[in-house]
Amino acid sequence: MSTELTTELTTDILVIGSGIAGLTYALAAAERGQVTLVTKKERAESNTNWAQGGVAAVLGPDDRPDLHIGDTLVAGAGLCHRDRVEILVNEGPSRVRELMAWGADFQRTDEGLALGREGGHSRRRIVHAADHTGRMIETALLAAVASNERIQVLEDHFAVDLLLGIDPASGQNRCGGALVLDHGEGRTYPVRARITMLATGGAGQVYRHTTNPAIATGDGLAMAYRAGALLANLEFIQFHPTAFYPTADPAFLISEAVRGEGAVLRRRDGTAFMDRHHRLGSLAPRDVVARAIDRELAETGDEHVLLDLEGIRPERFRERFPGIAAHCEAQGVDLARGIPVVPAAHYVCGGVVTDAWARTSIHGLLAAGEIACTGVHGANRLASNSLLEALVFSHRASVTTARDLDFVDWIDAAPALAGEADHPPTSPDPHLEGDRREVRSLMWSEAGIVRTTDRLASADEVLAPILARQERLAAGEPGDLERHQLRNLTQTAHLIVRSARMRTESRGLHYMLDHPWRDNEGCLRDTLLRR
Ligand code: FAD
Ligand code: SIN
Repeated sequence: MSTELTTELTTDILVIGSGIAGLTYALAAAERGQVTLVTKKERAESNTNWAQGGVAAVLGPDDRPDLHIGDTLVAGAGLCHRDRVEILVNEGPSRVRELMAWGADFQRTDEGLALGREGGHSRRRIVHAADHTGRMIETALLAAVASNERIQVLEDHFAVDLLLGIDPASGQNRCGGALVLDHGEGRTYPVRARITMLATGGAGQVYRHTTNPAIATGDGLAMAYRAGALLANLEFIQFHPTAFYPTADPAFLISEAVRGEGAVLRRRDGTAFMDRHHRLGSLAPRDVVARAIDRELAETGDEHVLLDLEGIRPERFRERFPGIAAHCEAQGVDLARGIPVVPAAHYVCGGVVTDAWARTSIHGLLAAGEIACTGVHGANRLASNSLLEALVFSHRASVTTARDLDFVDWIDAAPALAGEADHPPTSPDPHLEGDRREVRSLMWSEAGIVRTTDRLASADEVLAPILARQERLAAGEPGDLERHQLRNLTQTAHLIVRSARMRTESRGLHYMLDHPWRDNEGCLRDTLLRR
């Protein structure tokens, strides 16, 4: 990274985020222009790096696109956009092959790619690298990016806000890059771009218990909201049923692929319970399994359930899941007695609304990966469709870029909401850790796996003044990374709660105790939010 003082940087294409979405887009877009990729910490830090199960795609001899489409639609509980699901499934296999050409090395058998199974899938279709698929993909993509001279990667560069201005050619409002905080050097400066790609990933850190690493603070959602972008379906937060208990921060994931290989969920007293909740038992869709565990824990008063590995030969388990086996043993777990597990926040199904070509509602701003709401997940994401979605729609974003880049110029642009608040905080600030803890605990208890109208209303009431305070404090301390992240985390929490209050039914991942049924007449629609 350059150490000379920068007051402004100009690039053809700005990419924000170095997970699978940002990196694959950068590689493809670099064929058309100079790419600057900013990432807020060290370049490998991303949700992508932690992915275990793998990438779902129709690659097996017994599989067909209509089956993968059908499974995705069933999981999505009526809210998937079928045309986008068709794009996802039909273009998926080519994108997986492209990923392999960039260096991804998926496990093979004598017959070809080894295919795993996960909840909600009617066929084996998950390509993987043992239980460290994400790390393998991230390492391969970073190596490909490092050898591409047209891509500059800036680590420890935090995008604070998008730059907006009027495009003189079209007279339209347009994104012209982002205001970036180089927190290594403590300087903030604009990165001006003709096209900006938002690939900032998820927001699991909004919840007290999450599988997501520390970077997942919802920055992109908050930034896009402040810039006036259209957002959708933020009430649909996926809780992964099987995080290791006791949970650390982040919680260590026990991949759904373990159940795909034959593991079964049991109460601590040994009773198997999933067959009472769904015909697919322990391999039911995630929303069903997470709620069933939540209910079992409430009924028994236990702090966790057990994942019984009896159906998997011990040597097979260690070979297929070496990272999980090592983690459990390091924590003193006797694998023969099962792994203690609980649900934890895992994935945001909604996000910044994009069209089929990754365009957001703001000209010049593209989005892909977990930050985007492409319409493929509906009310509940099917396992291992997330990495696939990032691949397919990042590629489509690069096609959009190839088409548009020659016709757009740099513009005069300023940060969204610039100068709206300016109240210097007292120092040291007593609110930072207290507010973070309060927001995360509140979201876990009031906007978690099971919700009620009253609990959501009280969460809204508590969050609004915390958000107002964090907005003021962030404006008064523009060089403080933690402050910006907490502001974004609180903003994202508030958006989740507001979206949840707009859905007065139970569907997919959004379960309301006082509205326990689906309401297809009143609620069969996306939940849209705009500033
Ligand atoms: P990320 O990979 O999260 O990358 C986001 C990037 O943006 C990071 O580099 C981050 O530092 C950067 N960033 C964020 N904010 C800013 C900012 N303000 N300024 C600059 N940079 C910023 N999905 C599957 O399909 N299969 C799986 O097997 C699977 N397993 C998973 C296991 C775990 C433990 C977790 C947490 C998730 C898993 N998922 C899985 C989900 C999947 O990994 C993610 O949805 C996907 O990796 C998201 O990719 P992304 O590129 O959108 O975001
Ligand atoms: C897992 O391995 O269970 C995670 C898969 C996913 O989130 O899609």
